[in-house]
Amino acid sequence: MASKHASKVVSAEEAVPELIEDPVLVKSEQEAKADAKADAKSNDTPTSVEELAGVGPATAKKLAENGYATIMALATASVAEIANIGSIGEKTAQKIIESARGALNLSFETADIVNTRRKAMSRVTTGSNELNKLLGGGMETGSMTELYGEFRSGKTQLAHQLCVCAQLPIEKGGLYDGKNPVTVAYIDTEGTFRPERIIAMAQRFELDPEATLKNIQVGRAYNSDHQMCLADKVLQTAQEKNIRVLIVDSLVSHFRAEFMGRGTLANRQQKLNQHLHALLRAAEMNNMLVIVTNQVQAKPDVFFGDPNQASGGNIVAHASQTRLKLRKSKGPLRVVQVVDSPLLPESECVFSITEAGIADE
Ligand SMILES: Nc1ncnc2c1ncn2[C@@H]1O[C@H](COP(=O)(O)OP(=O)(O)OP(=O)(O)O)[C@@H](O)[C@H]1O
Ligand SMILES: [Mg+2]
Repeated sequence: MASKHASKVVSAEEAVPELIEDPVLVKSEQEAKADAKADAKSNDTPTSVEELAGVGPATAKKLAENGYATIMALATASVAEIANIGSIGEKTAQKIIESARGALNLSFETADIVNTRRKAMSRVTTGSNELNKLLGGGMETGSMTELYGEFRSGKTQLAHQLCVCAQLPIEKGGLYDGKNPVTVAYIDTEGTFRPERIIAMAQRFELDPEATLKNIQVGRAYNSDHQMCLADKVLQTAQEKNIRVLIVDSLVSHFRAEFMGRGTLANRQQKLNQHLHALLRAAEMNNMLVIVTNQVQAKPDVFFGDPNQASGGNIVAHASQTRLKLRKSKGPLRVVQVVDSPLLPESECVFSITEAGIADE
């Protein structure tokens, strides 16, 4: 499926023309008046983006198109991010963000409230009981998990498995509540998504293979800009399409290929940071399971410990709430190690890659 375009890097515009919008926000007189009216709003606590100070229908539309469809998304955004959208500008951006923060009453909260919110998090089964146990029940929604490891260590296989398992009913370890089918978004940067694997994995769990495939939206990203556009598209449509899983396989490869050399490292990291920000926003906004895969690079200057380090440096490591390191073992066996987690001990387990997917040893 990748062969047609594999050797050709096309621009984001060419690849997904519908994703690229006019970057300049041109307001009609009527829209400008509506926005001005929005400025003079009463002190009632806003409950939607349109009710925030500085936001009228035109601005609200533009914000939503750029992935800022909720008050939470705006409250946690930076002034620079918002100011750069259309012609919003710094002053208005500041006003919007302050208003969003006010509406959410962003401040400290007691730990029991945090606990209640944590209970809304779900865990998705991985297909391996051992791995589920290691993870405290499965892969956690509402946060980002990084799978990193050498080539053929099983990152893509595990990502495919989660696309299938997320579609299982809640009582079987998935996210399907019996009413709204779960949509999975898969950003494929290397052309390694394989529907055949999804079919085999769906059959093992007695899911209808056709329906399972239909619930997976695959975006083949041809360069880093395109990859970022696809992530924004997920943010924009998450609620409407019930997108509960977002996979980026793999996260850094385009960024690494496009930004060669030390001189451009800072630019690359800045852009990657922006991308990670969007992924984290998706995780929080729709209680999404966000999985990114990452290759390892041999660092010749590491004399102690493991010379194979995940790509992308500290930025990726810090953004991921949970980091799992995969390595090859005998035959189909793979070892997973919890490298970093806010609640799991550093330990490891073994799983197997079978024709029917990820399973126990
Ligand atoms: N149908 C299948 N049945 C059994 N094992 C399979 C099947 N398809 C793939 N595999 C196993 O999965 C391995 C590849 O794993 P995967 O593609 O997930 O690696 P990866 O970590 O994503 O590697 P890369 O860094 O190159 O992307 C193969 O080595 C093979 O052993
Ligand atoms: Mg892979």
